Amino acid sequence: MKDILKELEDRREVARMGGGERRINAQHAKGKLTARERVELLLDEGSFEEFDTFKAHRCTDFGMQKEKPAGDGVITGWGTINGRMVYVFSQDFTVFGGSLSETHAEKICKIQDMAMQNGAPVIGINDSGGARIQEGVASLAGYAEVFQRNIMASGVVPQISLIMGPCAGGAVYSPAMTDFIFMVKDSSYMFVTGPDVVKTVTNEVVTAEELGGASTHTKKSSVADGAFENDIEALTEVRRLVDFLPLNNRDKAPVRPFFDEPGRIEESLDTLIPENPNQPYDMKELILKVADEGDYYEIQEDFAKNIITCFIRLEGQTVGVVANQPTVLAGCLDIDSSRKAARFVRFCDAFEIPILTLVDVPGFLPGTSQEYGGVIKHGAKLLFAYGEATVPKVTVITRKAYGGAYDVMASKHLRGDFNYAWPTAEIAVMGAKGATEIIHRADLGDAEKIAAHTQDYEDRFANPFVAAERGFIDEVIMPQSTRKRVSRAFASLRNKKLQNPWKKHDNIPL
Ligand code: HXC
Repeated sequence: MKDILKELEDRREVARMGGGERRINAQHAKGKLTARERVELLLDEGSFEEFDTFKAHRCTDFGMQKEKPAGDGVITGWGTINGRMVYVFSQDFTVFGGSLSETHAEKICKIQDMAMQNGAPVIGINDSGGARIQEGVASLAGYAEVFQRNIMASGVVPQISLIMGPCAGGAVYSPAMTDFIFMVKDSSYMFVTGPDVVKTVTNEVVTAEELGGASTHTKKSSVADGAFENDIEALTEVRRLVDFLPLNNRDKAPVRPFFDEPGRIEESLDTLIPENPNQPYDMKELILKVADEGDYYEIQEDFAKNIITCFIRLEGQTVGVVANQPTVLAGCLDIDSSRKAARFVRFCDAFEIPILTLVDVPGFLPGTSQEYGGVIKHGAKLLFAYGEATVPKVTVITRKAYGGAYDVMASKHLRGDFNYAWPTAEIAVMGAKGATEIIHRADLGDAEKIAAHTQDYEDRFANPFVAAERGFIDEVIMPQSTRKRVSRAFASLRNKKLQNPWKKHDNIPL
């Protein structure tokens, strides 16, 4: 009996060593942790339960039968993050470069299936040379099996991808279909075709970092939602994100104990809006002052900074925040900010996370580059996302809410539950100057008349009361009481039930 127990321990020990000491050292030398070290750091200490430790590939081509490492280049199983269950896979670059074989894919599919069945998130740690070249189409089939499960799991359980090494070819498409992608600076890359192929086909000379590094994907392409300095920071931050999320679409996000007075008054907010309507101010200040303990988790911090998307808590409950940022492009809506916010709103709605919208928007960004890029379709994404969302929606207009952007930003007309405005709000078709120049075109040569018309327009429309008189604004509130008002609003909506008409699925303008 002892021998049998020892054999198990010996086999486990070999499996734990993955591709062997030399390759583990090489991994460390690149500043990367091993697949196992990553799982250990991601999960609560001692909570990891492994599946398929001994699963090996079945390939016999290219002499592969001589080398059949236990686990086949991916570590899979489940564990907990602050006591809440998650499923995890972690690709082991020390075994055939973490490449995906038929059996490697089967292991990932197994935990995807279990996550769906048992209602818990899937966290994928990607570090892989892509399809296992020796296996050919069997490996491609494996990828597609994983993709299909990503698609089925979308909107059912949260799916989070960490990119912690190369991620090339079709391998990028599994992360691309998950809810969030996080990368590690200087050691992770994502591209459909690498620099060599790019050079051959297009003659472009580009480094892997430029083509698909963390900076590219968080600032330019928006493929990734965040980038971290190293593996440890990335894993710690994913733990923090998981704390904001429900385990599945039928569960509520966890309620965290809070030590912050929900009725906290912030007098400094009464002077947040500058006297000059064209002067920007930092919308993050409002978010920080509204959130429990000033704690927030930003998504896509480095992309389309004219809109902020983040998670906060109010009375311990998760709330998704979408906020125009006046310090960047005056907080206007454009292609990038519409896409960014639309995806965030849809994530929140899919997982029953209430949405707080903070509005200071001068309208959509004009110009040929926007129109040629399809701002109509992209803007419509955000409009559509807000309009279809059935979660509690609370909106606060701090200053400008002009034109179509007023409608888009969770207005009353898109089933906003509580639509508040500060006394500084200006809800109008456009700014006073632009409006005057159109409706009083005949007076354009007369500066005095134009100034009088502009003043007249401002007096009549640059305020929240016209909208409030019609009931489009539920109440004009003091800025200092925003946290209190918003917290009470969400508290009153905890049992909200709203259902869209039956349909197979909608046809959001993609
Ligand atoms: C099998 C692979 C492999 C692969 C790497 N290895 N990629 N084995 N299949 N795809 C092995 C290497 O042979 C090596 O084995 C070990 O992993 C480490 O690789 P190195 O090249 O030494 O490491 P490094 O210099 O860090 O380079 C990493 C790399 C490079 C950039 C990922 O290995 C690479 O370019 N690999 C091929 C990438 C690729 O073209 N994949 C197919 C993409 S197409 P030893 O024994 O020496 O340690 C694709 C289609 C999917 O994925 C489509 C789905 C729809």
